[in-house]
Amino acid sequence: MSEAKDPQDTCVLVTGGAGFIGSHTVVELLQDGYKVVVVDDLSNASERVIDRIKTIVGDAAAARLTFYRTDVNDREAMSAVFDGDHIDRVIHFAGFKAVGESVSKPIEYYANNLGNTLTLVDVMRNHGCKDIIFSSSATVYGDPDSLPLTEESPKKPATNPYGWTKWMIEQVLTDLHTADPAWNVVLLRYFNPIGAHPSGLMGEDPKGIPNNLLPYVAQVAIGKRACVHVFGNDYDTPDGTGVRDYIHVCDLATGHAAALNWMNGRTGVEIFNLGTGRGTSVLEIIKAFSLACGKDLPYQIDPRRPGDVDANYADCSKAKREMGWVAKYDIGDMCRDSWNWQSKNPNGYEG
Ligand code: UFG
Repeated sequence: MSEAKDPQDTCVLVTGGAGFIGSHTVVELLQDGYKVVVVDDLSNASERVIDRIKTIVGDAAAARLTFYRTDVNDREAMSAVFDGDHIDRVIHFAGFKAVGESVSKPIEYYANNLGNTLTLVDVMRNHGCKDIIFSSSATVYGDPDSLPLTEESPKKPATNPYGWTKWMIEQVLTDLHTADPAWNVVLLRYFNPIGAHPSGLMGEDPKGIPNNLLPYVAQVAIGKRACVHVFGNDYDTPDGTGVRDYIHVCDLATGHAAALNWMNGRTGVEIFNLGTGRGTSVLEIIKAFSLACGKDLPYQIDPRRPGDVDANYADCSKAKREMGWVAKYDIGDMCRDSWNWQSKNPNGYEG
């Protein structure tokens, strides 16, 4: 049975806490009064993120943050983390996340994402910690039969190994609860996280050519790339371009805080969609970002990208009903904050 505790008495381990969503969540948790332990191997993140987190939250809250440069696959190191700090709950973000790369490196993706989760939950079990929030994805819904997507919408076969790892880890954690009902599992299915911290101190920092739309658009705006490539304009959507439910990363962060609060004192497996419930097309994004950065961004229409669906967006009424959580930011806010981050940090954390 999960023990109900106040934030100031609760220590949350955040794996992948130096990453894009992880870092914004860590800020939110520290501001809410939690003690936070971040484990990140920095394979796709910068140590500077930790300093930025401390700057944003201030000295008093920063004193409640501990950072370990550790790979979650490293069982001994993870055991040592649990031996050193009393961990009450875990938010598990750490994992490889590039869809295209996962197709060419399936072994690495399955080994890392599934392997680190199995190591993590085994170490948790050995230390009597059975509360976990998992960073899942709307990718588990595949090509939807109908919209909006509710948590009851069927899971579909994934179209790439990255998607399968999300799919399978949801199953692993569900099976864990079946075997031992003392587990307290929350699966958060994110739609498309974008935006940045309004301070301009934290944001998305992709390595190489961005795979996702928003970082690519931001790099066109800053002059690093010539034009946005729109992947197909013959989809079954109002303007023919793909429609997604973009959500501000700070809204996702409050979603995790809401989930931590909600799971307090419970057991079970619960799924929540985290999105805004609104769909936005690629052309609408280009328009909104052009407005945010004050110039018209060039784009060209290219062929469809394999594996992309026409449209998806969330029904988020369950998160509202159960956890009292709703997304606050709109597309204009998301593009504004993303541009603020990009223009202040043209080379990301290394700049
Ligand atoms: N797109 C472009 N040009 C680009 C990049 C993307 O036109 O350069 C289009 C895509 O075709 C799609 C939309 O922009 O219509 C969004 O694409 P993203 O790559 O930004 O995001 P996806 O919806 O493909 O994937 C995201 C996350 C995945 C997650 C999935 C869940 O990247 O991790 O949402 O639905 F699994």
